[in-house]
Amino acid sequence: MADKKTDDLISCYSPGLADIPAAESAVSYVDGKAGYLEYRGIDIEQLAENSSFEETSYLLLYGELPTAEQLSAFDKTLKHHRRIKFRIRDMMKCFPESAHPMDSLQATVAALGMFYPFPTNLSGELDRATIDSVCVNLISKLPTLVAAHARMRHGDDPIPPRDDLSHAANFYYMLTGEEPYPLTARILDVAFIVHAEHEMNASTFSTLVTASTHADPYTSISAAIGTLSGPLHGGANEDVLNMLDEIGNVEHVEDYLNKKLLNKEKIAGLGHRVYKTRDPRATLLVKLYKQLTDKIGVDTNYRIAREIEKLSESTLGAKGVCPNVDFYSGIVYRKLGIPTDLFTPIFAIARVSGWLAHWKEQLGHGRIYRPAQIYTGKFGVPYTPVDKR
Ligand SMILES: CC(C)(COP(=O)(O)OP(=O)(O)OC[C@H]1O[C@@H](n2cnc3c(N)ncnc32)[C@H](O)[C@@H]1OP(=O)(O)O)[C@@H](O)C(=O)NCCC(=O)NCCS
Repeated sequence: MADKKTDDLISCYSPGLADIPAAESAVSYVDGKAGYLEYRGIDIEQLAENSSFEETSYLLLYGELPTAEQLSAFDKTLKHHRRIKFRIRDMMKCFPESAHPMDSLQATVAALGMFYPFPTNLSGELDRATIDSVCVNLISKLPTLVAAHARMRHGDDPIPPRDDLSHAANFYYMLTGEEPYPLTARILDVAFIVHAEHEMNASTFSTLVTASTHADPYTSISAAIGTLSGPLHGGANEDVLNMLDEIGNVEHVEDYLNKKLLNKEKIAGLGHRVYKTRDPRATLLVKLYKQLTDKIGVDTNYRIAREIEKLSESTLGAKGVCPNVDFYSGIVYRKLGIPTDLFTPIFAIARVSGWLAHWKEQLGHGRIYRPAQIYTGKFGVPYTPVDKR
């Protein structure tokens, strides 16, 4: 029985909320047709060229590039909060060895909230120091959580953070026990920058939906990590490498693509809700990869990926389905020796700055998210006693 309410809802229904604005935001801007991305008005290419993850995080959180003094103070605070409590570390030790690092990260971030109680009030008004400490705590600790879990699952001890290393270099050090070469550190740093923010995507929306109930920010970021883990979102970077491994050889690409397209299956790392051309972040990641392989030459993974991009241009490219950020990120990470199942946690280490920038923006003037639904069930069904069913 359709009614006026249902008819009105049907007229504005957009599956996946496509093209429905869910918030106002000044954090970042994407032009999906031109393949253009800006953080706080600054072109991502310029940030990748000139900035650091620490500086970019400041920009996202506070809206402006920091002065030298502001950056130095922010960097010092980030370094100061890298350590994690032994109870969190011991909790991770108890996770099953087979636990996916994204599941571990989601659980430990949720648990962090128990150690850093957050004042909840109905007005949502918070002092700046409280907001700053949440942002710093999460940005600082995510790399430590990921690196510690990655080591402990193999029975190795976690490596304590080093305060003399940058955010990216310290992560690599905690993961491998080795100080990275400057190029390795810079490549990881740029990868963090290009993953740090991307306006109203699924995980950012999760952050905002959860935070709109005035749930604490650790719960909200934990929700975002869960959302990012899916293969249609951040989890695609892991799928891309698994796909490249499965194809194994450039000569097999055509057959693989034909089979996938015939079965109407999606190719990991291609397509995007907003970009209908090559994602500018994919272009930046290819540049990074080339810096890494300048002397030693490109590897099979890269050759296969380029062949997929080339051969899919005429079929998928015509529909606006092109390489997204996840298509080339894993190839870069693998070249750095990082295990495949850490690719999405690395995405989270970077994206937490963007999630928090949106969380901050919504504080104090957000309204609880409560969309509508189009009811497709029955009406007026009489209750049947159990002995009559
Ligand atoms: C990202 C993604 C979820 C966007 O989904 P969406 O905006 O709902 O796009 P649609 O599913 O409506 O795709 C539009 C068309 O392109 C096709 N398409 C989209 N992505 C495709 C892919 N990766 N491989 C093959 N075809 C694809 C769809 O089948 C659809 O074709 P049709 O119009 O003939 O039915 C989707 O492109 C995808 O699943 N990509 C693979 C996973 C991935 O890389 N995710 C990371 C995103 S950053």
